Amino acid sequence: MSRTKGDSIVGKKPAVGAGEKGKRILCIGAGYVGGPTMAMIARKCADYTVTVVDVDAARIRAWQSDKLPIYEPGLDELVSVCRDRNLFFSEDVAGNIEQADIIFVSVNTPTKKSGHGAGRAPDLQYWEKTAREILSNAKTDKIVIEKSTLPVRTAGAMARILHSGESSVRFEVLSNPEFLAEGTAVSDLELPDRVLIGGRETDSGRHAVAELVKIYRHWVPEERILTTSVWSSELSKLAANAFLAQRVSSINSLSAVCEATGADIQEVAKAIGMDTRIGGKFLNAGIGFGGSCFKKDILHLVYLCESCGLPEAADYWRQVTEINEYQQRRFVAGILSAMFNTVAGKRVAILGFAFKPDTGDTRESPAIGICKRLLEEGADLVVSDPQALENAERDLSEWEGKVIFEKDPYKAASGSHALVVLTGWKAYEGLDFARIYDSMVRPSFVFDGPGKLNHRELHEVGFNVYPIGKTPLTRS
Ligand code: NAD
Ligand code: UDX
Repeated sequence: MSRTKGDSIVGKKPAVGAGEKGKRILCIGAGYVGGPTMAMIARKCADYTVTVVDVDAARIRAWQSDKLPIYEPGLDELVSVCRDRNLFFSEDVAGNIEQADIIFVSVNTPTKKSGHGAGRAPDLQYWEKTAREILSNAKTDKIVIEKSTLPVRTAGAMARILHSGESSVRFEVLSNPEFLAEGTAVSDLELPDRVLIGGRETDSGRHAVAELVKIYRHWVPEERILTTSVWSSELSKLAANAFLAQRVSSINSLSAVCEATGADIQEVAKAIGMDTRIGGKFLNAGIGFGGSCFKKDILHLVYLCESCGLPEAADYWRQVTEINEYQQRRFVAGILSAMFNTVAGKRVAILGFAFKPDTGDTRESPAIGICKRLLEEGADLVVSDPQALENAERDLSEWEGKVIFEKDPYKAASGSHALVVLTGWKAYEGLDFARIYDSMVRPSFVFDGPGKLNHRELHEVGFNVYPIGKTPLTRS
C-alpha cells in the first residue's frame, strides 16, 4: 500500500501543491500540529498528496529548508522522506483550497486578550478567517476537518459559514482533534493511543467519516479509531487536556503538603500510581505545567461551563490553573527564603527554559514567570537551554542587559550562586556537578524543579539541595 522513499508521485514544488494521483489533502496552518501531523500522513499514505499552507511565509520557507521551524525528535527524518514526494509546503492558501478534496484546519486558537471573555474565551478570529477563505475559494465539494482544538459546537458554526454563500458547493465538517504531545510528537503520531473522529449521523456525515478513517487505516489499527458525534469529539479534546493538567496540579498541591510534613512526593507518587485505578503517568511534581495547550484549553472549558450556566463546574476547573500559578510562586518563594531572603546582585544560572524537555517551545513555559520574578528581585540571570535559547531571548527581551544567554551549562554555572533547574533535559542528569560546584560561589545552591537530579550526590559534592516536595538537603 505505501510507497518507499524516492517513489515520486508529483514533480518538485508545484505552483499549487497538488499532484496528479490520489486524493489531495490540504492543511491550513503549518505549526507544531499542522507540520508534523501532515508529514506523518504523507509518510504513511503515499497514495495521497499532502500540502501544508500558512500565511506566515517565513515559516513556510523554513519547512522547505534544512532547518525546520520547530525542533522535534525524529521530525527532520520524517519530513525529508516525503518532502517534494507527496508532501509540499506553500504560501498559496487560496490556490491550494481550490484544488483540495480534504482540508484540515490547524490554525492557532489562543485565548482572547481583550473584549468579552478576555482571559478565558477562545479567540476564534484565525479559525473564522480560514472558514471564509475556504468558502471564497472552493469550487468543488470538500470535507473540512477541525484539527485545531475548538469549543464544543464550533463545527456547527463552521458549517453555517461554509454554506452561507450562493454557491452549490457542499462541505461536510468533521472534528478530528490532535492528541500529540511536543517532544514525542513523531512517536505519538505513529502509534497513537486513539484517533478520534466526530461526524454527523447523516449519509454525507458517515461518508466523510469513512474517508477520514480510510486515511488513518493506512497505519492505525481499526480498534484505535474511535468515531463519535461531533460535539463529543470536540469536548473530549478539552476534557483530555483538563484531566491531564488536573493530575499535575493534584500532585503539585501534594508536593506542598510533603514539604510541610516531611513526606516525599516521589514516594507518594509511586505509592498512589501503583494503584492500577490511578496509574503512574503524569504524577511528576514540578514547577507546574506549561505549553500552549493545557492552560488555554482549561480556560476555554471554564468559559464553556460559564456560558452553559454551570458556575460550579467552571470554578472546579479554574482551580487547576490556580494551583499551577501557586506552585510557581511557591518555588520562587523557596529560592528567596533559602538564599537569605535576597537574590539582588547574585548571579543565578537557569538550566532549562523550554516548557518540557525535547522541545524548543517556550509557550506558557513556567520558566518565563519564574525568571521574571527572579529578575524583579534583582538577580542577574544566565539562561541555558539546549534548544530554546532563541525563544528565551524573545520571551525575556524586556530585561535586556540583566540576562545572559549561554548554551553551555558549565559556562552558565560558573561564578553563580545558584543553579535553578526548570526543564528536565536528560543531558542535565549527566553533568559533572563536582566540576560545576568548583566553579560556583559559596554557599552554592541547587533548586531542582523537575526533580530529576541525584540529590544525594549533589549534597555530597557540597551543594545545598532544594527539590520540590522533599526535605531539603542543606549544609551548615
Ligand atoms: P501554531 O501557532 O504553532 O500554528 C498555527 C499556524 O496557523 C501558524 O503558523 C499561523 O500562521 C497559521 N495560521 C493562522 N491563521 C491562518 C490562516 N488564516 N491561513 C493560514 N494559516 C494560518 O499552533 P499549533 O501549536 O500548531 O496549534 C494549532 C492548534 O492545534 C491549536 O488549536 C492547538 O490548541 C491545537 N493543538 C496543539 C498541540 C501542540 O502540541 N502544540 C497539540 C494538540 C492540539
Ligand atoms: C499536551 C497533551 O499531553 C497533548 O495530548 C495535547 O495534544 C497537547 O497538550 P504538551 O503540552 O505538548 O501536550 O506536553 P505534556 O507532556 O502534556 O506536558 C505538559 C506540561 O505538563 C509540561 O510543562 C510538563 O512538564 C508538565 N508535566 C507533565 C508535569 O509537570 N508533570 C507530569 O507528570 C507531566
